[in-house]
Amino acid sequence: MNCKVIFAAVCFIVVSSAAGFAQKKKSVINAYKYSIEKTTTVSNGAVISAHPLASQAGLLMLKKGGNAVDAAIATQLALAVVYPGAGNIGGGGFMIAHLKDGRNIALDYREKAPAAAHRDMYLDAAGNAQLNLSQHGHLAAGIPGTIAGLFASMKYARLSFKTLIEPAIILAEKGFAVTKAEASGLNAYKDAFTKYNTKATAFIKQQPWKEGDTLIQPELAATLKRVSALGKAGFYEGETARLIVEEMQRGKGLITYNDLKAYEAKERTVLSFPYKDFMVITMPLPSSGGIIINQTMKMVEQKNISGLGFHSVEAVQLMVEAERRAYADRAEFMGDQDFVKVPVKRLTSDAYAKERMADYNPAIAGSSQVTKPGAINPESEETTHLSVVDKYGNAVSVTTTLNGGYGSKTVVGGAGFLLNNEMDDFSVKPGVPNMYGALGAEANAIAPGKRMLSSMTPTIVLKNNRPYIVAGTPGGTTIPTSVYQTLINMLEFDMSADDAVNKPKFHHQWLPDEVYVEKDFPAAVIAALKAKGYKISIRGQIGRTEVIKVLLNKKFECAADKRGDDAVAGY
Ligand code: DON
Repeated sequence: MNCKVIFAAVCFIVVSSAAGFAQKKKSVINAYKYSIEKTTTVSNGAVISAHPLASQAGLLMLKKGGNAVDAAIATQLALAVVYPGAGNIGGGGFMIAHLKDGRNIALDYREKAPAAAHRDMYLDAAGNAQLNLSQHGHLAAGIPGTIAGLFASMKYARLSFKTLIEPAIILAEKGFAVTKAEASGLNAYKDAFTKYNTKATAFIKQQPWKEGDTLIQPELAATLKRVSALGKAGFYEGETARLIVEEMQRGKGLITYNDLKAYEAKERTVLSFPYKDFMVITMPLPSSGGIIINQTMKMVEQKNISGLGFHSVEAVQLMVEAERRAYADRAEFMGDQDFVKVPVKRLTSDAYAKERMADYNPAIAGSSQVTKPGAINPESEETTHLSVVDKYGNAVSVTTTLNGGYGSKTVVGGAGFLLNNEMDDFSVKPGVPNMYGALGAEANAIAPGKRMLSSMTPTIVLKNNRPYIVAGTPGGTTIPTSVYQTLINMLEFDMSADDAVNKPKFHHQWLPDEVYVEKDFPAAVIAALKAKGYKISIRGQIGRTEVIKVLLNKKFECAADKRGDDAVAGY
C-alpha cells in the first residue's frame, strides 16, 4: 500500500549543523509537500509514527548518526507540533527499549495527579460523577510528564537535545501543511477549543481548515526554544511554568509550581515473559497493558491457536474469552504500584492463566455475570505510538498520550501546547466507567501525586535476545487487545507486518459484555459468534498500530497502520 498525499507549496530546509560532526550535512524535510508511505523494507533503520513529518524528523536523526533513542525523541517532539491531537509536550507516555548491549529499559513518564487532587474531586454534592470535569478543560489535566521523559531518555541517546528538537522548532515556527484528517479534526473540535480556552489559540481560525492549509504555532515554537536552551527547567520552571500556573488559575485547574518542579520520570523494571521461543518485553504498571498482554497470551499459548486458523470462530472466541478475563482483573486489581499493592506476580503467573481458563467452554458464549475478577489472595480516542530501529541493534517502542483527542482541549495561553485530560483515566467513582468504558476500583482511585492507570502497551518481542518485533498502538482500552492480536497474528499465523496491522480487529473488555469488531470483520464469523450467544457491536476503528519486523536477512519490514496518516520512513 502506498497512499500519496501531496501538498504543493514552498519548501523549507532543515539544515543540520550540530556540533561534533566533521561535515556540515544538509537534510531536507519538506513540510509542505510530503507523501504518506505505508510500508517499506530497509536495511539501516526505520521510524514509524502517526505523521509522515514526524517519522522524517526521526529518520533525519538516524542519518545524522543518532540511534533509535535519538530518533524516538525527535519524532515525539515533532509529533507535538504536527499531530496536536495526540502528539504532545502537555501529556505523558512510556518508552520500552532494547539496547544493543542487551539491556531492556522501561521509562515511565505518565502524568501524575496534582497535590491538591483528591479521590472525590469529580463528585457533586449528591455524589454523582461529573465526567465533564474529568474529561474537559483545566481540571482534567494531570501534571505533564513528556518533557521529563525525553530528558530521562537522553542518557541512552548520542546526539544533543538541541539537535533533536530542531525540526520541531522549525515546524512550529515556519508551519506545515495539515493533512485532510488533521483539518477535519481541528474543525470538529473548534467549539471545544472555544469553550475550554481562556486565550486565543493557533488551532482556531475563522474559515474551516482544509487539507494543505499551513498551521503555524509561534507560541509553541517559543516554548520549545526555552526547552532547547534551558533543558527540563525550560518546561517545569521559569516562564513555561508561570504560563501553565497562570492558565490553571484562569480556569480553576490544580497544577502548581511545586507540582511541576517535583515531577520526575521513573525508570521501571520491564515486564517480560516468554512466549514459546520468544521473549516479550513490555510496560509494567502504571500501565495495565503489559499485564493484560501477558495474561491473554499465556491463556492461549498452549491452545494450538495456529491450528484453529486466523479469524476462525474458534480462534476469535478463545481470544475474546482471554480478553474478558484479563480486563476483569484490570478493573479490580490494577493501579499505581507506588500507592497500592497489586498482585502482579500472581496475575502474570502461568498457573493463574491456566486457572482462569479452566471454565472456558467453546460451545457457548462466556458471560461477565459469571466471569468476575480472579480470586487473588493478598500477596506478600487520543494517543499515539512510534516504533524505531537502528543499524546498531537498538529498538525503541514509545506510546504517548493526551488521553482524549486534543486532550483537555485547553491550550496553555502564551505557551501554545495542549494539556492532557488524563485525570479521567483514574476511577472517578467505583462503578462509573471512564471515557473508554473502563471500570476501576480502589486500586485506581485518585490520590495526590499518584499516576492514573494506563492501557498503553509499547512492546518489543525478542528472538535469541535480539529485536524481532517492535509494536504498539493508541486506542484507550483497545490498546492491549490490539497489541495482543498483532503479536498473535505474527507469532502464530505467520503474517507479514502489513497484514498483522491491517487485518480487521476485535475487542472485549469484560464490561460492557460485548465483542466489538471493525466494520470489515468477516460477516460469517460475526454470525457464528451471535449464534453462540455473543453480543456483537460494530466499532469504527480499533488501534493504529505501527510494526517493525526483523526479517531473516536482517532487513526491517515496516508497516504503518492504514487507519490514519501513519507513515514509515527508513533507509
Ligand atoms: O493511557 C491510556 O490508557 C489512555 N489515556 C490512552 C488513550 C488513547 O489511547 C486514546 N487514543 N485513541
